[in-house]
Amino acid sequence: MSNSISGVGILGIGSCLPEKVLTNYDLEKMVDTSDEWITKRTGISERRILDDDTPTYGLGVTAARKALEDAGLTAEQIDLIIVTTEVPDYLTPSTACIIQREIGAVNAAAFDMNAACSGFAYALTISRQFIETGFYKHILIVCCEGLSKVTDWKDRNTCILFGDGAGAAVIGKVEKDYGILSTYIGADGNLGHNITVPCCFISDTDREKRLNGTERTLWMDGAEVFKFAVKIMEEASLKALELAGMTLDDIKMIVPHQANIRIVDGAAKRLKVPSEKIYTNLQKYGNISSASIVVALDELIKSGAVRKGDNLVLVGFGGGLTWGSAVLKWNK
Ligand code: ACO
Repeated sequence: MSNSISGVGILGIGSCLPEKVLTNYDLEKMVDTSDEWITKRTGISERRILDDDTPTYGLGVTAARKALEDAGLTAEQIDLIIVTTEVPDYLTPSTACIIQREIGAVNAAAFDMNAACSGFAYALTISRQFIETGFYKHILIVCCEGLSKVTDWKDRNTCILFGDGAGAAVIGKVEKDYGILSTYIGADGNLGHNITVPCCFISDTDREKRLNGTERTLWMDGAEVFKFAVKIMEEASLKALELAGMTLDDIKMIVPHQANIRIVDGAAKRLKVPSEKIYTNLQKYGNISSASIVVALDELIKSGAVRKGDNLVLVGFGGGLTWGSAVLKWNK
């Protein structure tokens, strides 16, 4: 595996969250839980939720427009749209085709890709190959998630964790030695049964796990995923650094998947990095699957805390089970 590509990076970034806020206190009225339990065990205080009758792709459209504006590009200049989503509004047309239509990216090819919460790292990996070879000039990645639509709102084990949102990034050529310095992605399908969202088929085993008579909802073995997550976040961060020829000392900030503050703290402990070096916003948004890292990155960049030349590690894990990481030398 070669990771020697450089000079491919993020030209523009943007995000969009639904306006409706669902707080821990709201959840207290829906299931047997408490703000204290959720805050202590997850770090999450509130999340953003779409109305039932609102499609998820609208969040992606807004995030995409913001990323294009940030990049100083028009939609016609985009050659390819990759949408990462666990919860497409339609199986066909793909969310990527819907967003292409909405933003008028008439010259772009478009497809959806599902690597669950690791989607952004997967999409970065795909994008950098296309740009490096010169096959495409500009790629729009849109991470567009509406997990509230597959949440079992009677299951306190899961309904407290997730939120909706979208983030987008335009990928293209940047200065040599800047941009995406490495990416690392992986999967272990043997562990896939730990997080499931059935769609057109459900096995008897998966039906039996769902206690409230729901079939098309997210079910998760939280404890198993927790153990996996802490370990893989450490491993994937170190692997991306190794591929970039760096160590943690070279890194300004780590931007992790925003699943649970205890997972982030556990990984930080294993990596021996102080919590100030890890960016979190899960307190406000919960887990927004593949959108989580790009929304966090967008916030971090817009906060002004990152300067050109600063090195960042992005690292995530999720359904599949999958994982992915990247080292960026910020190029703007
Ligand atoms: N409120 C109050 N009590 C609760 C709640 C709740 N919302 N949820 C569970 N409990 C109870 C349990 O029933 C259990 O009670 P019991 O001891 O009487 O059986 C007790 O709290 C402890 O439950 P645990 O599951 O051990 O709680 P834990 O501390 O492990 O936290 C959690 C659960 C938050 C789900 C954690 O395991 C976790 O974050 N796992 C990882 C999830 C994740 O990161 N997923 C990412 C991938 S998702 C994707 O790809 C879309």
